[in-house]
Amino acid sequence: MLTGFTAALLVLGLLAGAVAAETVHGVVVFSRHGDRTTKHYGAQALTSLGATQNFQVGSSYRARYLTAGSPHRILNISEFSYVSSQVYATAPSQGILLNTATAFLQGLYPPLVGLDPQVASQTLNNGTNSTSPLNGYQYVTLQGIVGNSPDAIWIKGDDGCPAYTQAGDSFKQSTEFMTRNAETRGFYRGFFPVLQSVHDYKSADNMSYAKAYDIFDLINVARIHNATSPARSVTDEQLFQLRTLADSAEFGDNYNRTQPARSIHAETFAGGVLAQLNKTITSRGQLKFSLLAGSYDTFLAFFGLANLTAVDPDFFGLPDYASTMVFELFSSDSASASSFPTDPDAELRVRFLFKNGTDGALAAHPLFDSGVDSLAWPDFVDQLQPRAITTTAEWCSTCQSQVDFCAALNQTDSGATASSGGGGSGGGLSNAVAGVIGAMVTLGVVAIVGALAFLLLWKRRFALGATPDAGVANGEKRSLRSASHGSGGV
Ligand SMILES: *[C@@H]1O[C@H](CO)[C@@H](O)[C@H](O)[C@H]1NC(C)=O
Ligand SMILES: *[C@@H]1O[C@H](CO)[C@@H](O)[C@H](O)[C@H]1NC(C)=O
Ligand SMILES: *[C@@H]1O[C@H](CO)[C@@H](O)[C@H](O)[C@H]1NC(C)=O
Ligand SMILES: *[C@@H]1O[C@H](CO)[C@@H](O)[C@H](O)[C@H]1NC(C)=O
Ligand SMILES: *[C@@H]1O[C@H](CO)[C@@H](O)[C@H](O)[C@H]1NC(C)=O
Ligand SMILES: *[C@@H]1O[C@H](CO)[C@@H](O)[C@H](O)[C@H]1NC(C)=O
Ligand SMILES: *[C@@H]1O[C@H](CO)[C@@H](O)[C@H](O)[C@H]1NC(C)=O
Ligand SMILES: *[C@@H]1O[C@H](CO)[C@@H](O)[C@H](O)[C@H]1NC(C)=O
Ligand SMILES: *[C@@H]1O[C@H](CO)[C@@H](O)[C@H](O)[C@H]1NC(C)=O
Ligand SMILES: *[C@@H]1O[C@H](CO)[C@@H](O)[C@H](O)[C@H]1NC(C)=O
Repeated sequence: MLTGFTAALLVLGLLAGAVAAETVHGVVVFSRHGDRTTKHYGAQALTSLGATQNFQVGSSYRARYLTAGSPHRILNISEFSYVSSQVYATAPSQGILLNTATAFLQGLYPPLVGLDPQVASQTLNNGTNSTSPLNGYQYVTLQGIVGNSPDAIWIKGDDGCPAYTQAGDSFKQSTEFMTRNAETRGFYRGFFPVLQSVHDYKSADNMSYAKAYDIFDLINVARIHNATSPARSVTDEQLFQLRTLADSAEFGDNYNRTQPARSIHAETFAGGVLAQLNKTITSRGQLKFSLLAGSYDTFLAFFGLANLTAVDPDFFGLPDYASTMVFELFSSDSASASSFPTDPDAELRVRFLFKNGTDGALAAHPLFDSGVDSLAWPDFVDQLQPRAITTTAEWCSTCQSQVDFCAALNQTDSGATASSGGGGSGGGLSNAVAGVIGAMVTLGVVAIVGALAFLLLWKRRFALGATPDAGVANGEKRSLRSASHGSGGV
């Protein structure tokens, strides 16, 4: 079954790029979650259907970028065994987005036994063969990023950002909003009987365009999953209208040409994309595949920021579950290219592609109203950098944010030295690191005292036979910013 599916994907991958004579050196992929439970109660989780969707999309990326014979195969990427230096995967520390990334990665690097039994089994000195559990399941490292870490801004720059919240809320004061709100009163009230059982939709007055996404989401999810819900009587045509209204409300919340603060999350995302692509370049192609899992609001804001809506009105619409956008770093000319370009500025280009849900084709679209489907790396940087937020300090001041790491930057006055673009070790989104080094110096005394206390404790526990588990404190830390602003967009 799996092999048939994989073979079909391979054929699709081959067809899609039959004419290309170019070499891909690295990609940055941003993915939305698949099907999930409703967002209304704030406990949304990926469903088995959703996991399958993210898995399928991951498989299609495998077919395009990893499989031998694909014209878009990333140069020298490991086809079967995951190689940690080649792949960087990250998601905010929220179950639904961590699982989204995991399901995608299961498709990208499936269990080895089905791929290559030879690679899957290791022969021990006594002659016994050993294979990892679940048919050689591969453990691709995934970096979860807690909300109060400076690195959280690259995927979720809207959380903990008062300037964004204010700008988004001002949509409700626009004539566009008020007109639509008035025009759709009757339409929304008509759905009151459908949502009557939802505890906080107490009166028909609650039903309005101001709640466009929430109402669409409750009804859409109930139609798919809840056998006893009256939402099952909502017609396709009605759902389409609910969706289209939600499209406009969410786009309005996340982009306004004359109010950049509405798209702060797209600006930080742009900074993250620049950093990751640059890491592929500065490592001369060692980092090959970056995966980020995030929210639909970042898609919409980026569609506006990068002028995609100016080219195709479909970009005003919410991306379907498991949608992905990808930035492809490639050199044109030789299909025979076998090494990283010696002059990246002259030889490398960037292409943007979008895949709507699981069924949409992965298609290229011109960025920045350029009219062409790829740009030379320096031109891409010239266009994206002015639209991007590339340092933590810039985010802190743009947002007027009061989160801890912003206060720390203020105290040490090290904002001016915060690094921009890339750098750092490994494949991570580590723009922020230099910016917080100053803060760390200030906190150094505290840290030394803390370290001593830890050592003493460690020795005592060790003496008592307990194992030291320093990681727990960090791992369990609750996200301050998610607590204050919920999980926008997910
Ligand atoms: C290809 O990748 C392998 C590791 O998977 C590495 O040892 C080798 O040097 C790489 N070759 C080139 C040309 O980059
Ligand atoms: C162990 O695996 C190797 C390679 O796949 C194979 O040639 C060999 O027959 C296996 N040995 C046993 C005892 O299964
Ligand atoms: C071979 O060694 C492994 C690891 O020590 C052990 O689990 C396994 O039972 C051994 N196999 C045989 C046939 O002794
Ligand atoms: C966009 O922002 C401007 C102010 O910069 C405001 O006048 C206008 O109403 C906004 N439009 C929408 C649809 O929010
Ligand atoms: C419904 O209206 C009541 C009263 O205005 C309000 O307290 C409640 O938060 C509203 N519920 C929703 C989902 O908007
Ligand atoms: C399914 O719909 C029924 C009827 O509206 C409701 O009482 C129930 O809470 C819903 N179940 C879920 C899991 O939302
Ligand atoms: C492209 O997007 C930028 C950033 O939002 C905006 O300033 C500019 O007006 C847009 N251009 C077009 C043609 O829409
Ligand atoms: C993606 O699909 C949705 C629903 O099918 C549609 O509303 C939206 O416009 C599509 N987006 C793009 C960029 O095609
Ligand atoms: C940082 O300093 C600026 C300017 O003095 C101030 O407006 C802002 O509130 C400060 N931020 C924090 C988090 O303390
Ligand atoms: C890429 O990284 C290098 C080295 O850290 C840096 O000098 C350069 O400015 C970065 N370029 C971009 C576009 O971020």
